[in-house]
Amino acid sequence: MRLKDKVAVITGAGSGIGRATAILFAKEGAKVVVSDYKEDAARATLDDILKNGCEGIAVKADVSKEAEIQHLMEEAFQRYGRLNVLISNAGIGEVSPVEELSEEAWYRTIDINLKGVFLCAKHAIPYMRKSGGGSIVNNASILGHVGFPGTAAYNAAKGGVVILTKNMALDYAKDKIRVNAVCPGFIRTPMVEEGAVKGQLDYLATLHPLGRLGEPVEVAYGMLFLASEESSFITGSSLMIDGGYTAR
Ligand SMILES: NC(=O)c1ccc[n+]([C@@H]2O[C@H](COP(=O)([O-])OP(=O)(O)OC[C@H]3O[C@@H](n4cnc5c(N)ncnc54)[C@H](O)[C@@H]3O)[C@@H](O)[C@H]2O)c1
Repeated sequence: MRLKDKVAVITGAGSGIGRATAILFAKEGAKVVVSDYKEDAARATLDDILKNGCEGIAVKADVSKEAEIQHLMEEAFQRYGRLNVLISNAGIGEVSPVEELSEEAWYRTIDINLKGVFLCAKHAIPYMRKSGGGSIVNNASILGHVGFPGTAAYNAAKGGVVILTKNMALDYAKDKIRVNAVCPGFIRTPMVEEGAVKGQLDYLATLHPLGRLGEPVEVAYGMLFLASEESSFITGSSLMIDGGYTAR
């Protein structure tokens, strides 16, 4: 098992990539702290983990609220006595060019997609240090590296996640805490299949040289590699999981 006895907090674990990652990590031996701001969704993921005979707890937390994130990390540490892995995955889509983007939508996107990554790291790092080190994996996006029409706030937030990942990798290497990002292309999750781009799935598939959208578990396997000791000399990197999207 690739994460045997590691304690992993996963945000946005009630759906899509976070859910697939939580289930995979549990199968690989991790004790998974399944977190989402939708309590029922977190609980449903946890139920699947427990049904598989694996271990975890569910904790409701909104990544944009500092007190809730502080509580999430405390709960994880108190329950298991250590914190080894943080998967900062919670995020929302936002599709507006700048002229049509309200200030409210700008702040909401930045608050969840970028500030959430900062708050989770801020409150996980002290517990990881007490645990002798750890691995943080942030879910950025190809849109942290390349532009996409009409996604101003999302592009800005994900670009922020990519560079914040490098910053934290430098600051916490001395504590044996590695910090990396995954950068998925378009993945078949509710965010894409039910979101603003749902009518364009065939077109979006053609943007990936492999000719299709990705599946949540294909991102989860990248998270698993970066969370595990197999990536022990990797920090500050972005792993593209994009069917070749950014290779052009
Ligand atoms: N699906 C894609 O194509 C794609 C591509 C690149 C990056 N991503 C990123 O992957 C991550 C997961 O996205 P997904 O596609 O699985 O989406 P999803 O909508 O299926 O899942 C997102 C989860 O995050 C939760 N969430 C939203 N806001 C939250 C908050 N404030 N606090 C806590 N939880 C919150 C939702 O309840 C949901 O369970 C996001 O950061 C997204 O930006 C997705």
